[in-house]
Amino acid sequence: MISRLAAGLAALLLSAAPAFAQTQLKVDTSAPIGTIQPEVYGQFLEHVGLLPYDGIWVGPDSEIPNTDGIRDDVFIALKALDVPVIRWPGGCYADLYHWRDGIGPQDSRPLRTNMVWGGTPEPNSFGTHEFFNFAERLGAKTYLNLNLGTGTTKEAADWLEYLTATKGDRAAERRANGREAPWKVDYIAIGNETWGCGGHQTATTYADQYALFASFAMTEGDQPVRIISGSHDGNPEYSDTVLSHPYIADLAEGISMHFYTLPTGDWDRKGAATGFPETEWISTMARTLRMDEIITGQEAMFAAHPDLKPDFGLYVDEWGMWVDKDSPDDPSLLQQNTIRDAVVAGLNLNIFHAHADSVKMTNIAQMVNVLQAMILTDGPDMVLTPTYHVLEMYKPFMGAEALPVSLEDGPAYTLGKTSVPALSASAARTPDGRLMLALVNADARASHEIDASAFGATEAKGRMLSGKTMDAHNDFDAPDTVHPVAIKARAGKRGLILTLPARSVTVVELTD
Ligand code: AHR
Repeated sequence: MISRLAAGLAALLLSAAPAFAQTQLKVDTSAPIGTIQPEVYGQFLEHVGLLPYDGIWVGPDSEIPNTDGIRDDVFIALKALDVPVIRWPGGCYADLYHWRDGIGPQDSRPLRTNMVWGGTPEPNSFGTHEFFNFAERLGAKTYLNLNLGTGTTKEAADWLEYLTATKGDRAAERRANGREAPWKVDYIAIGNETWGCGGHQTATTYADQYALFASFAMTEGDQPVRIISGSHDGNPEYSDTVLSHPYIADLAEGISMHFYTLPTGDWDRKGAATGFPETEWISTMARTLRMDEIITGQEAMFAAHPDLKPDFGLYVDEWGMWVDKDSPDDPSLLQQNTIRDAVVAGLNLNIFHAHADSVKMTNIAQMVNVLQAMILTDGPDMVLTPTYHVLEMYKPFMGAEALPVSLEDGPAYTLGKTSVPALSASAARTPDGRLMLALVNADARASHEIDASAFGATEAKGRMLSGKTMDAHNDFDAPDTVHPVAIKARAGKRGLILTLPARSVTVVELTD
């Protein structure tokens, strides 16, 4: 630990002479954008590959240390992230999930086949009680994706009654299954990707279905926030049509949007997780930065529906990197996670902060062992990914007031015909008055300097994550290759200068 700290401090960042002009960071502390909802740091837990089985759920009889079947190492790591909300059980799987399969004694639960994710066995050991207990122990809110595809309004209504009722037969059944008090269902989505795996429905058909389900999706006590299944990046008009339904405005508090970053942009050849060329680094950056214009487009669309509730929000309930598998026959969605993923995470979080007034929740896909995971497991072993470290470093932004920042004449990062801004920044004031600054250098080659003196601070202190190579990553035999290092800078003649290494994510607190 000591040597790590020393290395970090050495890497820091009181620069002697400017190698090149530093970028001026401008901030308007008088005009906050809005509160960054903690749920912007939400996660997604679908039944696919090694999630939840092996990644989270090992069962009470496992030799892997666990508490009530949830592995302790993963739980402790997730606890340290303050996970604010978890979306479950899908994704595409949600439309095949029947909640009654996952309650009652473990040995009487049916063995099903996960038809949507490769025909793998689904033992239903991780069901309603296991999910809600897991979320409760983590202190996370619950986000249920209801089954619209192969479910019924009755099945959905019954589930919500089972979860939240204090009286009657369903409450008694829940008690008999071991849970006395009702649970809180904080959010529900009705359907998932209804234009695709969720039924290939036209927007008008889905809008009718949504209205029907939403009318009967009732809980005892506080009502959950109801989220419509909306667009993905390629079909923004889908949400627009759904929102034109005459009754929807009264029946929804938000709409989802999915956007995955594929290095090549081609679903048939997405690009590799490691060993990729620089052309795929820069194309990844260019694609992921599209999140900003996509959200802006959704905001403009909301404005064209003045009947929506005042707090109606955008729920980016699936986002992250999606790369090719080594074997195309592997349905697990397990992929390696590198410093490129970390930079993508930082860029997206900065974009979400800039849209704090409209983005109410996001859910990185997915929690463990799937797509851009926070954690990878292999039997009893666990590794924290570079993406994990970014979420951990960004924790102070949860619940903070986002401040508008701009990078005057910031440097470009160019390769061939592709050019993107090299730097990205976001700033926020925490509820206890701390001024936080997050900086990403998406340039694969060059370091860049930033002058943060516009904030009136004289000191910056925090941590930085970078990678020696474009695909630097943590693995079971080298779990700590990519880790945050401490940094500190003081204002000098040239201002409060921070040097951002190539391929890096930095979070600092600014103080006088
Ligand atoms: O996250 C994996 C899948 O991606 C989800 O199940 C689906 O909603 C999306 O297409």
